[in-house]
Amino acid sequence: MTIYFDKETKTFHLQTNQSSYLFQVVNNDYLAHLYWGKRVRSTSMPKSLRYIDRGFSGNPNKEDRTFSLDTLPQEYPAYGHTDFRSPAVHIETADGGRITDLRYVSHEILPGKRPLEGLPATYVEDTSEADTLKVYMLDEVTQLHVTLIYTIYATRNAITRAVHVENKGEDTLGLEKVASMSVDFRETDFEMINLPGAHVRERDIERAPLRRGMQSVESRRGSSSHHQNPFIALVREETTETKGEVYGFSLVYSGNFKAEVEVDQTCQSRVIMGINDFDFKWLLKPAETFQTPEVVMVYTDQGLNDMSRTYHDLYGRRLARGKHRDAERPVLINNWEATYFDFNEDKILTIADKAKDTGVELFVLDDGWFGKRDDDFTSLGDWFVYDEKLPSGLKTLAEKINKMGMQFGLWFEPEMVSPESELYKAHPDWCLHVPNRRRSESRNQLVLDFSRPDVCDEMIQRVTAILESAPISYVKWDMNRNMTEIGSRYWPKEQQKEVAHRYMLGLYRVMETITAKFPEILFESCSGGGGRFDPGMLYYMPQTWTSDNTDAISRLRIQYGTSLVYPISSMGSHVSEVPNHQVGRITPLETRGHVAMDGNLGYELDVTKLSDEEISGIKTQVDLYKSIRQTIQYGTFYRLVSPFETGNYGSIHVSETKDKAVFIYVHTLAEANGPFKAVKLQGLDPETDYRVLETNDVYSGDSLMHIGLNVPYANHDFKSTLYRLEAVK
Ligand code: DGJ
Repeated sequence: MTIYFDKETKTFHLQTNQSSYLFQVVNNDYLAHLYWGKRVRSTSMPKSLRYIDRGFSGNPNKEDRTFSLDTLPQEYPAYGHTDFRSPAVHIETADGGRITDLRYVSHEILPGKRPLEGLPATYVEDTSEADTLKVYMLDEVTQLHVTLIYTIYATRNAITRAVHVENKGEDTLGLEKVASMSVDFRETDFEMINLPGAHVRERDIERAPLRRGMQSVESRRGSSSHHQNPFIALVREETTETKGEVYGFSLVYSGNFKAEVEVDQTCQSRVIMGINDFDFKWLLKPAETFQTPEVVMVYTDQGLNDMSRTYHDLYGRRLARGKHRDAERPVLINNWEATYFDFNEDKILTIADKAKDTGVELFVLDDGWFGKRDDDFTSLGDWFVYDEKLPSGLKTLAEKINKMGMQFGLWFEPEMVSPESELYKAHPDWCLHVPNRRRSESRNQLVLDFSRPDVCDEMIQRVTAILESAPISYVKWDMNRNMTEIGSRYWPKEQQKEVAHRYMLGLYRVMETITAKFPEILFESCSGGGGRFDPGMLYYMPQTWTSDNTDAISRLRIQYGTSLVYPISSMGSHVSEVPNHQVGRITPLETRGHVAMDGNLGYELDVTKLSDEEISGIKTQVDLYKSIRQTIQYGTFYRLVSPFETGNYGSIHVSETKDKAVFIYVHTLAEANGPFKAVKLQGLDPETDYRVLETNDVYSGDSLMHIGLNVPYANHDFKSTLYRLEAVK
């Protein structure tokens, strides 16, 4: 890992073990992007910039008709002086102008990586892990100082980027758009991958060739959303899971975002990512600063699996934090699908009592324990125990569950308020709203105005009081609607377009305060399942409830899509009852277990209604999972068979030392007189022999990877296989 600056040519070269990223100061201090891709030597780069006179592309310097910002590949393009493509930065000046002219001033190369103020970001534990380059740019007229921040890691093939701006002028500026990064590729022969979806159908994989003009994915929902994820990749037509070039872009942010790819007239492709500029404008007064979120960029020529492994490692080890980051995650049981709101203390204790015999380690009490909450019409915000349901209180309940040998976990939805609640009666102005406009409800609830410091402080206090009142080891932090009527009575009218981002800053402060106060608690984020499954949340909470869809077959696609970016240790995955509550499908318990074991295993069903045979099946699963979870949660993960392409699913988790592996395969629909299936494994040591514990067969690592492992013939629908592989010593 090195960051070079060649003084003669004024060229920067950020060089990781596998990739190179180059840019140059050219022609009156503009910053031109030269190259990002497979590692090259730092000397003798062919001159990549070429200039010709093109019609309708204006010239900043009238003496030189061949130089136009409209066609120059740039590092951080601004709006106004001859570049007609989408800008990374767009500023309104006090006189109504919208021109910005950024020029290189100086730079600094620093060891390590600094945190971003108030925002989640990847980090280092030692300065030797990374180097940081800060490039200082200036718009002379407004005295707007822009710092481009780049970090490269020594052993991780990633570059992070973020931008810091400071108003050193005398007038207030309106930031209409400040992207976290921009890259201009000199070509257009790419396909774009993104992860669209919906509630209970998150993170499909979509792939389409770039076309001329603009293509973008974004969220305007006030959260990263079920509907798009803050991730895109550019790949070549021939790129697969195991080979070919991939450029990944992942934004460490949980609110409105936008990723744009614009193919211009000369077939160059500009990628920009950051806070969505839709309905955004930030007033930057003199002496004030603004920090963008971080984008993590990964280049590889080894296919999508390799990109995912870089994200998994970086997000699992240097984005997630706290004592649970590297710890085996407990097997839990959650009462939501077992009871919904219809429970009392006895019912909870009966479920817990039955669950403890299966070896489950944590009982999670979901929605309905507070205020007067018997349905979703009431009580959000009233974070006081519902005495009629839980007459002995939370402390006694948690202690009883602890006595059974299980930890106790609790559900919250701190960002919301029910119109029917004590909180709303006392503070009707505390929700996001716009005067004289309807307050649209969604799931009968309104969004608390987390852009207000007083609302955030109150919620910190209320959640803290509950967490201090009982032995609570786990928190599920839910968020069950998107934002409408985004407005705040706290901020003046000219700052209303700041509210959505200020909400995120408030939320991040609340989560930082609470997670720091309770370092022993394992926090799991959730937003109706995976509506906020993003890197921003993972910084505070190391796992996320992947989807409200618990059907094993639907989960194959959801978990496969999620694994493109997010580590296995971040994915909550539960076995639920059949017929499944979301899609009505009936699948074998074994299959439900195997699919849930491909993440952090949990159960979400009324165990008191199960037969002895089913309970003993669950006990077998829990025992098995405990023996393999280190490999699953912290091993190296490879996608083998895509449910999007084949309908079936295959994956393997390989331990760090390659002496153990867990192979999971699900054949969805049986076929009469169908073909035999074999799957070529990945990640094993070719020189090692492995025993398949389930069949006692021994195979060499190279034959498993090149000839493949036979999977059992599918003689019924939804047949699954889990094989443990162990090195033969
Ligand atoms: C949505 C979550 O995703 C569910 O698991 C459950 O916690 C409900 N909310 C409770 O309201």
